[in-house]
Amino acid sequence: MSGGQPIPRRALRADLLDFTGDPGLGAPSLGAVRHRPDHWLLIEHGRIAAVRPGAQAPGPDWLCEDHRGRLILPGFIDTHVHSPQLDVIGSYGTELLDWLETYTFPAERRYADAGVAEQGAAVFLDALLARGTTAAVVFPTVHKVSADRLFAAAEQRGMRVIAGKVLMDRNAPDGLRDDVAGAERDCLDLIARWHGKARLAYAVTVRFAPTSTPAQLAMAGALCSADPTLYMQTHVAENRAEVQWVRELFPDARSYLDVYARAGLLHPRSVLAHGIWLDDEDRAALRDAGAQIAHSPSSNLFLGSGLFRWRDAEAGGAAVSLASDVGGGTSLSMQRTMADAYRVQALRGVRLSAFKALHTATLGAAQALKLDHEIGSLEPGRMADLTVWDWASGPVARARDALARDLHERLFAWMMLGDERYLVTTLVAGRTQYMRRGNDSGAPPPGRPKTAAPPRGADAARRHGG
Ligand code: GUN
Ligand code: ZN
Repeated sequence: MSGGQPIPRRALRADLLDFTGDPGLGAPSLGAVRHRPDHWLLIEHGRIAAVRPGAQAPGPDWLCEDHRGRLILPGFIDTHVHSPQLDVIGSYGTELLDWLETYTFPAERRYADAGVAEQGAAVFLDALLARGTTAAVVFPTVHKVSADRLFAAAEQRGMRVIAGKVLMDRNAPDGLRDDVAGAERDCLDLIARWHGKARLAYAVTVRFAPTSTPAQLAMAGALCSADPTLYMQTHVAENRAEVQWVRELFPDARSYLDVYARAGLLHPRSVLAHGIWLDDEDRAALRDAGAQIAHSPSSNLFLGSGLFRWRDAEAGGAAVSLASDVGGGTSLSMQRTMADAYRVQALRGVRLSAFKALHTATLGAAQALKLDHEIGSLEPGRMADLTVWDWASGPVARARDALARDLHERLFAWMMLGDERYLVTTLVAGRTQYMRRGNDSGAPPPGRPKTAAPPRGADAARRHGG
């Protein structure tokens, strides 16, 4: 909030798209899709106040922005991403365990330094905003200062961020290990300082089972039991060599997931990345706990980890959200993430609709995080975390867009071809936190008003009118 200044009442006009339910993994169906072409979205006190048809312009006391011909979506929610790993994104030639040793651990050591942590957090959050992501579940590093600076930077930007100092007291190099007592102190300090402040929440952050002793896992579980409002984040069953290592380290556990269950780390606010090598019993345990898998398709393809069984997860009742997992993933863009999710499911013989993908990256993630009262949709009363997009950018995508025969075809091309170049502006709690410089959308026709999108043919407008 800026020093007692009244917050302007703001209204944006564009095509609104969000979800009222889960479209499911089947063929595209409009059932749960709320598509409101050419509507005003009214924002007051940082929240969505109302939605009304384009013909009903708000009065003169509203700051009106005309984005006709563009798309407004709820801000994306990235449920698993590593802030310090922007420094190793796109690193060549290894699978998970080698990749951690070769690239990731050395990069994360630098975050012991407060200056590096502060600068890294700012670059990272601004990069999320520049891709339309307004909420994220984030791993910083083992260093308390890395979590502290990340929270501070998120507070400055008004973002919904869930994070916590990474716990790792074994099987990690010097400069990246903590110990049980020191880690517990750091967690308690950070929880007192940040959990529930502004739009921030603390996640007890176990890197993965191999880098925590049983004593540290027990401490993490005790933190969760003491305060059920805390989140928990970790990795599970990502890579075959990793799964085998966990089997050797925890011979008494039934499965990798069971290591966490036994330590009291599976609960409704648990976010477990990957979950590629799970079985039906694991999926039932996730369902019963109300925990979620943060599916990270870009990372899974890049590190050669495997193909996530989304259909089995859905059949088993386990919640699934979508995540970039940078730097295992190669893009912070949730459009790129959704496109990779489509490819992974295609290799499994499942067709992921754009409706299902977009739902998962917005309302679905909000529900899985128990935050759907605040984020994930364009419902009046929700925080005004939203994004304005071009439907297409550049001559190829514009031509494809103009030929789309229905909403799903249009949205699917948007998801498969799109990236941050399509993004016009990002609002967090009703405030502009990112605005594209210039107009990158392709071919601005002469005389077009500055904020208006390229006009589509009248026939196309009719086709998408309902
Ligand atoms: N497992 C443990 N740490 C990591 C990490 O940083 N990235 C990924 N993808 N998997 C992990
Ligand atoms: Zn990860």
